Amino acid sequence: MKTSILAALFAVAPAAVAGWTWPEAKGKSIKFTSVPGYFIQDDEATNPTGFDYAAVNFGLVNRTYRTDKRFDPTGAKTQWQRFEAWVKHLNSGCQKRGNVQYKVLIMGRHGDGWHNAAESFYGTPAWNCYWAEQEGNGTAVWADPLLTPAGVREAEKSNAYFKDRYQTQKMPYFESYYTSPLSRCTITANLTFADINLPRNRPFVPIVKEGFREGMTVHTCNHRSSKTYISEMFPSFQFEAGFTELDELWRRNESETDEAFAVRAKAVLDDVFRTDKKTWISITAHSGAITRLLAALNHRPFRLATGQIIPVLVKAEAVELQPTPVFEAHEPYSTCDAPPITSIAGQGCVCATTTTSALPEPTESDPAECSDS
Ligand SMILES: *[C@@H]1O[C@H](CO)[C@@H](O)[C@H](O)[C@H]1NC(C)=O
Ligand SMILES: *[C@@H]1O[C@H](CO)[C@@H](O)[C@H](O)[C@H]1NC(C)=O
Ligand SMILES: *[C@@H]1O[C@H](CO)[C@@H](O)[C@H](O)[C@H]1NC(C)=O
Ligand SMILES: *[C@@H]1O[C@H](CO)[C@@H](O)[C@H](O)[C@H]1NC(C)=O
Repeated sequence: MKTSILAALFAVAPAAVAGWTWPEAKGKSIKFTSVPGYFIQDDEATNPTGFDYAAVNFGLVNRTYRTDKRFDPTGAKTQWQRFEAWVKHLNSGCQKRGNVQYKVLIMGRHGDGWHNAAESFYGTPAWNCYWAEQEGNGTAVWADPLLTPAGVREAEKSNAYFKDRYQTQKMPYFESYYTSPLSRCTITANLTFADINLPRNRPFVPIVKEGFREGMTVHTCNHRSSKTYISEMFPSFQFEAGFTELDELWRRNESETDEAFAVRAKAVLDDVFRTDKKTWISITAHSGAITRLLAALNHRPFRLATGQIIPVLVKAEAVELQPTPVFEAHEPYSTCDAPPITSIAGQGCVCATTTTSALPEPTESDPAECSDS
């Protein structure tokens, strides 16, 4: 009953916005490494729980680089400036090889949305088994939700922190911005960056990219709005090539599998590295999406609370073409027609009524695992 498909969905049509493609990676696969030693988030000693980027300069390690001696002979530069010079050296220095490139990806999770508030309000079992499949409850709307006031404050905090880092620490400005198409991310990206006074050659013009969206569970919070809706809300945002008017990927009755999500995360990063020459890159996405992006980058797990931000120095190498993975793209998802009694890990929802779900089999996944929108 399940359909096996190839990892073609996101991989076939790379969105070459700027028209550049990484020549040495043509016909090759890309291997990612998150280079350790630059941000404290990749140190096993750093506890992700309760971590706040704004207490520690985004986690940038206080250290020296081999380029310091020439770049900063008098010790007048900031840590960010010296790091920027080092990354520039890695990309253009004497050891430059066309089959390797480095990028600094700074990934932010959206601020608290109405779906997050509702999950806390109803509890995860009732949320996953019933409420998340509704569009709202008459008071709050969580189909492609907006930010709660707390979520807006989280984005305003990032906004203030970026302004401060740019001004006092000479943190480099981003060269490219990407965002998930879901409103909680487009809104977070806009609140975080839109009013910052940026250099003319580094404007805030994010590219809306399907591959950065959250795991496509049957939850209505993961069903995106139309392209028209997004572009009316944010006329200056751009869309990757091939971005469809309506959401053609989300399904009301089946969820994206974990394998499909992992492959999608790798594919969207491949696409960015193949088509974007820039080094300093901002990505606004989701808890589940950033979890998979970090895994694809071979970074240790580092779960982000709403509004949190994680930087990674990424080394990408063009390597021999790897076989295309084959996987189940969708799986059924157990739900109830009314608020459930509970849900059981590995078994699914325990519905209150005798009419349980219309699905033919219980889901294999723990519903609590699917709550990371
Ligand atoms: C680096 O040092 C500065 C200044 O003492 C401090 O504010 C910052 O938190 C340190 N960074 C890390 C990652 O510990
Ligand atoms: C609807 O959900 C929100 C949480 O998103 C909650 O604050 C509100 O009280 C709920 N409304 C009703 C009528 O239960
Ligand atoms: C985007 O940000 C700008 C600048 O802060 C603000 O004026 C505008 O209202 C925001 N747009 C939306 C739709 O939130
Ligand atoms: C979900 O809907 C699709 C399209 O309507 C259908 O092909 C598929 O069999 C359905 N899956 C389940 C589990 O009901």
